[in-house]
Amino acid sequence: MIFTVAIDGPAAAGKGTISRAVAARFGFAHLDTGLLYRAVGAKVAAGVEPEAAALALVPADLDAAGLRTLAAGQAASRVAALPAVRAALIEFQRRFARQEGGAVLDGRDIGTVICPEAEVKLYVTASPEIRAHRRWLEVGGDAGQVLAEVRERDARDMHRADAPLRPAADAVVIDTSDMPVEEAIARATALIAAHM
Ligand code: C5P
Repeated sequence: MIFTVAIDGPAAAGKGTISRAVAARFGFAHLDTGLLYRAVGAKVAAGVEPEAAALALVPADLDAAGLRTLAAGQAASRVAALPAVRAALIEFQRRFARQEGGAVLDGRDIGTVICPEAEVKLYVTASPEIRAHRRWLEVGGDAGQVLAEVRERDARDMHRADAPLRPAADAVVIDTSDMPVEEAIARATALIAAHM
């Protein structure tokens, strides 16, 4: 069975938690596509040319330490604005999306660019303040700075020319600002079950 679930949205909206839960529930493979850009960002920070870094990416790169930090997120969103980097990562993501057995991909452009034919598209969002608070609970530090970084990354991801973050026309929007994560997972699960 070929079945793709595309889950897009801004940082710390709950995409990862929902993706992992529905992938486990339906036995689908899961790809956190943000990790691809984080891994490229880390290589660029180490001096590799951006397109070459994206073309040379191997699975082990996605396990590298330090990819979950705020700084790695900022580095990722800077390389993610480069069309050559995005182009280099498209084929891998498309193959992953259409693999036998079903797949969940979460990111920024899955429903709009990577897999417009996805059977289920979700756009998971929440207010910047609530997302920043969640991120701050994970990473600590200065809460004001975490909010500023969330807003900066949102702006860069939403306003770039190539594959900007936006909901696909046919995406179902889930706003998790005031929603327990269990309810968001239940909604996503029901939507997928209804399309299988
Ligand atoms: O989801 P995560 O916070 O790990 O993503 C890091 C950055 O990678 C995002 O801010 C965005 O700039 C970029 N990204 C992207 N397209 C995706 C996934 C992530 O541009 N599909």
